Amino acid sequence: MLIPVILSGGSGTRLWPLSRELYPKQLLPLVGKGTMLQETLARMKGVEDVGAPIVVCNDSHRFLVAEQLRAVDAKPQSILLEPVGRNTAPAVAIAAMAAVAAESSNSKTSPLLLVLPADHVIRDVAAFRSAVSVGRRAAEQGKLVTFGVVPDKPETGYGYIKRAAGDGPTFPIAQFVEKPDLATATRYVESKEYFWNSGMFLFRATAVLDEMRALAPDIYEACAQAYTASKRDLDFTRLPAKEFGACRSDSLDYAVMEKTKHGVVVPLDAGWSDVGSWSALHEAVPGDESNNVCLGDVLTEDSSGCYLQSTSRLVAAVGLRDHVVVETKDAVLVAPKDRVQDVKLLVTQLKKQG
Ligand code: GDD
Ligand code: MG
Repeated sequence: MLIPVILSGGSGTRLWPLSRELYPKQLLPLVGKGTMLQETLARMKGVEDVGAPIVVCNDSHRFLVAEQLRAVDAKPQSILLEPVGRNTAPAVAIAAMAAVAAESSNSKTSPLLLVLPADHVIRDVAAFRSAVSVGRRAAEQGKLVTFGVVPDKPETGYGYIKRAAGDGPTFPIAQFVEKPDLATATRYVESKEYFWNSGMFLFRATAVLDEMRALAPDIYEACAQAYTASKRDLDFTRLPAKEFGACRSDSLDYAVMEKTKHGVVVPLDAGWSDVGSWSALHEAVPGDESNNVCLGDVLTEDSSGCYLQSTSRLVAAVGLRDHVVVETKDAVLVAPKDRVQDVKLLVTQLKKQG
């Protein structure tokens, strides 16, 4: 049985002012009909032998998440509520513990977990599914599988995975490098030996827990205590603030995948993006003949390469090139497309001002 573990804990600050702390990007319909969370679940249809998903999110998003699951008839195995974010290693550890606890006592093997961040876009779902089935065979043999996106540009917002020599379809992992600078990323892409780290994983629940116990014992212990003290309330499993808050914050990549000897990478060439910025979102949505993306009440004259979105008023642009303009009721963002990574600096300033 394959259990989707949906990580929905991010705050998506680079997509401000649409993405807010209480309404982050994975809960918005940014690309496609449903919200990014709903699209992530929809992508699982057609994958064989899939069980009810486990969703891990912040406690403050519980009603939005539950409502969005209900709207697409997705009955979760459980929704794990984090009182605070502790990054992906604790989130995955708790999900694995919940999956092991829920498995039927007559099953000889622990469930396979497919860890999927809730805020990714994948254009070629068939290619995604065939990568999942390659990963599944490796995970059944005890491997910890990561999906490596075949890069088409030297993106600096992603981590990189260097593959070791092999015949495929899976490759041993030689090295992880988190968010290199542009010159390094350019070298990586030219070498054809590196993938983007997608942040999606596939392994047996017991395999990832065994590795976590060996490689990040403090995280394993803190999560075991938090899970033991958790309280089930209908679909929700509430993690206690004291025990979970005491856990060190770390990503699964750093805590386990970089160190394990059982890691393999499966190449994924499926039009993947983590839509981490307005320019990434612009690329993920088809534009008009001037390569403008206009959403809502938008009027343009002699403008090109722009992402223009209005939610409450008319937005009009003349002679604008390669800019992002996003209008909401209480805030308007205007930025050249090559500066959109710095939107997070604005959010930091706003947080300081309270
Ligand atoms: N439940 C939960 N709790 N989810 C979390 C938490 C948490 O504390 N922290 C992060 N996540 C989820 C986010 O919602 C997101 O979907 C995913 O884990 C990755 O976290 P980000 O904060 O978006 O990381 P990033 O984009 O800077 O970098 C990571 O992802 C890239 C690919 O999208 C790294 O793994 C990079 O190496 C990778 O390329
Ligand atoms: Mg991200």
